[in-house]
Amino acid sequence: RFRAAVAAATRVVPGPNRHQTPDRVPEGPGFTWSTDSDPALPVNRAWARDVAAAMPGCRLGTTTLNTHRVETADQVDAAVATALGAAPGWAEAGASARADVLYRVAAELARRRGDLLAVAGHETGKVFEQGDVEVSEAIDFADWYAEQAGLLEQVDGARYVPARVSVVAPPWNFPLAITTGSTLAPLATGSAVILKPAPQARQCAAVIAECMWAAGVPREVLQLVDAGEGEAGRRLISHPDVDRVILTGAHDTAKLFRSWRPDLPLLAETSGKNAIIVTENGDYDLAAADIIASAFGHAGQKCSAASLVILVGQAYRSKRLRTQIIDAAASLRVGGPEDLTTQLGPVIEPAAGKLLDGLTRLDPGQNWALEPRRLDESGRFWSPGIRAGVRAGDRYHFTEYFGPVTGIMYAPDLATAVAYQNGTEYGLTAGLHSLDPEEISWWCDHVNAGNLYVNRGITGAIVGRQPFGGWKKSAVGPGAKAGGPNYLAVLGGWEPIAPVA
Ligand code: SER
Repeated sequence: RFRAAVAAATRVVPGPNRHQTPDRVPEGPGFTWSTDSDPALPVNRAWARDVAAAMPGCRLGTTTLNTHRVETADQVDAAVATALGAAPGWAEAGASARADVLYRVAAELARRRGDLLAVAGHETGKVFEQGDVEVSEAIDFADWYAEQAGLLEQVDGARYVPARVSVVAPPWNFPLAITTGSTLAPLATGSAVILKPAPQARQCAAVIAECMWAAGVPREVLQLVDAGEGEAGRRLISHPDVDRVILTGAHDTAKLFRSWRPDLPLLAETSGKNAIIVTENGDYDLAAADIIASAFGHAGQKCSAASLVILVGQAYRSKRLRTQIIDAAASLRVGGPEDLTTQLGPVIEPAAGKLLDGLTRLDPGQNWALEPRRLDESGRFWSPGIRAGVRAGDRYHFTEYFGPVTGIMYAPDLATAVAYQNGTEYGLTAGLHSLDPEEISWWCDHVNAGNLYVNRGITGAIVGRQPFGGWKKSAVGPGAKAGGPNYLAVLGGWEPIAPVA
C-alpha cells in the first residue's frame, strides 16, 4: 500500500527545472565571478552578494526602455506596421533557424543571470532564491520552445501558418519566466512580437528583450513597446492588425482587453483561488512545508498560490498540523531581497484596497491563527497571516487577495473538502496531501483545476513536464498550457497544403 502511494505520488511530482544554477556562474555585466563558494547557498556566495548589493538601486535596462516609451496611438500604429513588415521574413526563415536563435537566447539568459535577479529584486521585491528559480525556468522555456518549433513543420498535408503580429502582455509577479516564455512562444512559431511590459516590471522586460536581440532576434521582429495603460495601451490591444494577444494577469484585465476589442484573439492565464487539502492519511511534515512554500512564496503574489488550506477530519482536529503551519509561518524571515536570508519579501505596492482587506479584515466567524502585522511605514512589508474558521461561502473563500495570507478550513471528509476546493469561480492549481492511493485517485477524478499536485506544493510548474494553465475563470481562450506540447500549435493555425478532395 505504501509503495503504491509513493508510486502514485511520484508520478505527479515534478522534479527540478531542467536548467539549474550552475556551480560556476558566468560573468554578466556588472557582476564578477569569485571562488568563494558556500554549499548552503544555491550559487556562489560572493556572486550572490554582488547581485544582492545591486538590487536596491538597480537601473539595468532603463536606457533601453526609455527609447521604447510610447505615448500615442500613432506611435503604436508605427510599431505594428514595423512588425507586420518584418513578420513574413521571420516566418520564412524556418523553424530550425528560429530554434537556433532560441537556443542562443537560453545561453544569453544564463550569461545574464545576475542582471535578471538584480532587476527582479529591485523592481518587484523578488527574493534571491525565488528569482534564481525563475531564471532557470526562463532558460527552460527557451530550450523547450526551440525544441517544439520543429514539430510544427512535421504535419502531413497541412502547413502551419503563424500569427503575423502577436502582442505579449506579461505579469509583474513572474517578470522573468513568464515574460520570457510568453514572448518566445510566438517568436518560435514565426510571429513578430510586440512586448508590452508590465508597468511594475519594465526593466525586467528590457533586460529580457536585450537577451533576445543579442541572440539574434531582429529588432523589428521583437519590439519592446512600453505603451502603458492609457491611450497607447488601448490602441495596441485593439489594433486590427494584431492577430493574437497573450496575456498573463488578472481576470479583470482580460475583461478590459475584451471590452476594447470584442473579437480579440486572446490567450490568457488569469486569476486563481487555490487550495491544498490534507487528509488524515497525509504526511503532515511534508504538508506543512509545502503549504508554507505555496502560500507565502513571493509573498503570496502568485495566481497559483495556496490561499486556502482544507484540513480533513483528524488532520484538523489533532491540532498538530495546524500548530506546525502556524509556527513555520511565524518563523519566516521577512525582509528585502537584498538580504540573502529573506524568505518573505515585500508586496509589490503599499497594501491598499482588496489586499489591505485580505490582510486586516476578517469575515464574521473567522479569527487570526496568525495575525499579519504591518512592519514598516511603506506598507509593503507584512508578516504572514493565517485565518482560522474560514467557511464555505465566506468572502475569503472565493476572493483572490494576492498577498501573504492564507486561510484554514475544516472539512469532515474528502468529498466535502473537494466541494470546497472546487467551490470558487477559478480553477488554476489544486493540491492534495495523502498517502492513500484510493484517495489520490478519487481526488484526481473529482477536482476541477488545470494543474493538480499530489504530495508537493502547488506553485512552480515545470516546463515540459507540468504544463501550466487553468480552467474556469482562470483561463481565457483556447486553453493551451504554457510549457506544454500544444502551446505553439494554438498560437497560429493550420491550412491544407493541397485542396481537400
Ligand atoms: N507558473 C507559475 C507557477 O506554476 C505561476 O504562474 O507557480
